[in-house]
Amino acid sequence: MDQKARSKVLIDNDRTRVTEWRFAPGSATGFHRHDFDYVIMPQRTGTLTMVDGAGRESTSQLTDGTPYFRAAGVEHDVINSNDFEFVFVEFEIKYSLRARASYQRSPNASAGADRLAVAVRCCRVIMADGPLTGFGAGWR
Ligand code: NI
Repeated sequence: MDQKARSKVLIDNDRTRVTEWRFAPGSATGFHRHDFDYVIMPQRTGTLTMVDGAGRESTSQLTDGTPYFRAAGVEHDVINSNDFEFVFVEFEIKYSLRARASYQRSPNASAGADRLAVAVRCCRVIMADGPLTGFGAGWR
């Protein structure tokens, strides 16, 4: 079986995109690049097979309700290795890409680093007021 996973965009605005992914057994996302930092929240417990740009395969154990974070730049195909439908929700963080762009535009690295640090702190304060309250827990 070599079918495509089904995606449904639940939220898409200038700060975030939230997408539900449903994979029939053996189905795959197709090779893609993550342009934004993202968090995956599994809705099932099971194994996914990842294939990178060089064709190297690896497997990941996912646990229902246990999220994980990945930075922008990941490139892979994701395949459902289970004999049941797999489901996860992907939260893409568009704000972080703007923070990085402002860092790269900076005329010198230290000023850019300061600006990035401010942007990260601002982001956490904003997020602390939103539904992902845990995100702001480490900030003082
Ligand atoms: Ni991906």
